[in-house]
Amino acid sequence: MADYGRILNWETADNEVKVSFEKQKMIITVLTDDIINVFVPLWSEEHRSKAIEPDDMDRVLKKGATFEVKEIKGSAEKNDITIEISTGNLKAIVTNGGFVDFYDMKGKLLSANYRGERKSRRVINMWDLELLKAEGHDTKGLENNSKPVEDVRVVESDEPIFGLGDKSGFLNKRSYEYENWNSDDPSAHTEQFRSLYKSIPFLICKNKEAAYGLFYDNTFHGYFDLAKENAEYMVYGADDGNLDLYFIGGKTIPGVIENYTFLTGRAPLPQLWTLGYHQCRWGYKCKEDIREVAEKYRETGIPCESVQYDIDYMDGYRVFTWNEKDYGPAGELIEDLAKQGFKSVINTDPGTKVEDGYFMYEEGKGKYFFRTADDSADYVNAVWPGDANYPDFGREDVRKWWGKHIAEMMDEKKIMGFWNDMNEPASFNGPLPEDVIGHDGERKTTHKELHNVYGHFMSKATYDGIKEHTGKRPFVITRACYSGTQKYSTVWTGDNQSLWSHLQMMIPQLCTLGMCGYPIAGVDIGGFGGDTTPELLSRWIEAAAFSTFFRNHSANGTIRQEPWQFGPEVEEIYRKYVKLHYRFLPYIYDLLHEEQENGLPVMRPLVMHYEEDPATYNINDEYLVGEKILVAPVVNQGETVRKIYLPEGTWYNYLTGEKHQGPETFLEKAPLDYMPIYIKGGSVIPMYDEMAYIGEKNLDKLILLATPEGGKCVHYQDGGEDLSYLDGNYNLYEFTVDPEGKLSTDLLNKAKNVSQYDSINVISF
Ligand code: GLC
Repeated sequence: MADYGRILNWETADNEVKVSFEKQKMIITVLTDDIINVFVPLWSEEHRSKAIEPDDMDRVLKKGATFEVKEIKGSAEKNDITIEISTGNLKAIVTNGGFVDFYDMKGKLLSANYRGERKSRRVINMWDLELLKAEGHDTKGLENNSKPVEDVRVVESDEPIFGLGDKSGFLNKRSYEYENWNSDDPSAHTEQFRSLYKSIPFLICKNKEAAYGLFYDNTFHGYFDLAKENAEYMVYGADDGNLDLYFIGGKTIPGVIENYTFLTGRAPLPQLWTLGYHQCRWGYKCKEDIREVAEKYRETGIPCESVQYDIDYMDGYRVFTWNEKDYGPAGELIEDLAKQGFKSVINTDPGTKVEDGYFMYEEGKGKYFFRTADDSADYVNAVWPGDANYPDFGREDVRKWWGKHIAEMMDEKKIMGFWNDMNEPASFNGPLPEDVIGHDGERKTTHKELHNVYGHFMSKATYDGIKEHTGKRPFVITRACYSGTQKYSTVWTGDNQSLWSHLQMMIPQLCTLGMCGYPIAGVDIGGFGGDTTPELLSRWIEAAAFSTFFRNHSANGTIRQEPWQFGPEVEEIYRKYVKLHYRFLPYIYDLLHEEQENGLPVMRPLVMHYEEDPATYNINDEYLVGEKILVAPVVNQGETVRKIYLPEGTWYNYLTGEKHQGPETFLEKAPLDYMPIYIKGGSVIPMYDEMAYIGEKNLDKLILLATPEGGKCVHYQDGGEDLSYLDGNYNLYEFTVDPEGKLSTDLLNKAKNVSQYDSINVISF
């Protein structure tokens, strides 16, 4: 870490404390009692956040905080001073050198800057770096790792580190290193992968005092060494930009997530149908393929909301066109399938074909695209349609232009949801040079700053386009994103493969995305690349049964991956777990309603609710759904007996009602058609009857699954599509079930025009 020299003086203005060191100035801003920002203007005087919109900042500042600043005199001879900034919950102490340490109000240390020299554990003694490189070894960590923007923080010896969004590997990211540079790499994502599609520079640590969060808001190429180089510290670095650290308190992991999502925004409530099941494949080459798959879903009785349209539906991969030759007149197939309850979701790529006469090219050329470094021409690279330009989505007028075409697709082609793909952005002729010119609003800048927010801005363009046009809750899916994109889009984890290790990775990956503000997330069920197997697909649909973006997808050239391709046994298992997903939809929807208030996801790692139990730090093969359901899927080939860990409390097996008292580790038989599910004692869980798709029947019957001791729940019900819930148009019930199974209901909010249930039935195991 750079040494900023001694503190010379400081002053306060509003909620800021400006500290001048000999070589650098630093601004500490108290945002709330739990959020303190440390800003070192290495690149710009202002923050330039893309994650925190002006609306987000207004909300945060409205909450505000009171704070006190104290100067502590040190050595008189050097005239040394230390500055202490205290809020209701946190204390930041700034000392010479530019170090900032954080304490809780009891004076317990949460996070300190590391003061020593960095000491790498790697050795290269006899090796020649060039020879290692020549043979293709990974030598990155052997070179000088210092970055122009850097923050090095002490970690305790047993402190787990969570976060960073979609990064591969395990829940506890300690002892690994990662990079934030949104990347499209379809080779098998192993735990040694440094970067994937998303950049979410947010960490949650848990030391013996409390949990705390570190959000490094910087969109340039970023680096994280999480106590890998040396067990004593972790390192954040970036190639450029400011050091812009939000230290986030909250005491517990849920508290930290609540504060982080308060700052960067929360995922809005989705349309109910989007939480249902979706089928997709790259390579449904014509309308007959789509029709056949859709019909087969209805015939087999496996619920399904959409057969999503991959790039095959486009005319020559030109965005916002329709391949009439193979897919028939625009709108026809979609309207036809809508009669059977199918919704329409299309893939949209940003790379816009360079071609005279193509309307997107004609409208955009010289006007809406990234420019070459010398600003002499629109920048060209290549994606699916061949040579392509890249819309400069950081500009509002470009987003409006894109949004206008989104609206047209909705009107003319009856599209209901947009799947934003290839928006890292992907490029087939080598990476986009860092000096390609684009914008952040009106400000001219380069791809070096914009790369990691390309998907973010594209998602915002799509979200705004849909919302303004329809007044409904937008359905946007994105592959690339940054912190804060959760306000605009659902995410999926890109091109996984049909590997058991990728089924295993799904759990920590989706739990981590949830901890980082993305409650609506999913992976390609069955695996995208490579060929799935009957056993893998069966285990995958089980393990994914509670995911909020629930889609089977596979790549062109692989074997077909629809459930009926693998015989009646797999089809039966598949039907069972997709039906199970639909039965639990009211519970999932309730969690997303609560998420508006608390920022907590649906799929949660055990550590989120049992952080005092260190056994939960490294559980990668179980997850919680909210607080009340624990899922322990089989994620190993050939396994039919599962080791299960249940944390503290009473748990009931969902199938048999068998009672367990946690903490307990035991073995349970898990034949191919069985996924162990446990319900926490004292729970009441709202459920629906079976259905083929959302909209098939009136959702006027509610079932309440109650554990033997009875319990309580708050249940939310709305129209499932529009935004009138924001004006109070929803029913909110409080259900209390006593140990005899008797129900009493309080209506906490009554909707203007959403009918209440015709029947509410309590069931037990
Ligand atoms: C990318 C996407 C994948 C899609 C393919 C073709 O690889 O990640 O989901 O099927 O492009 O559009």
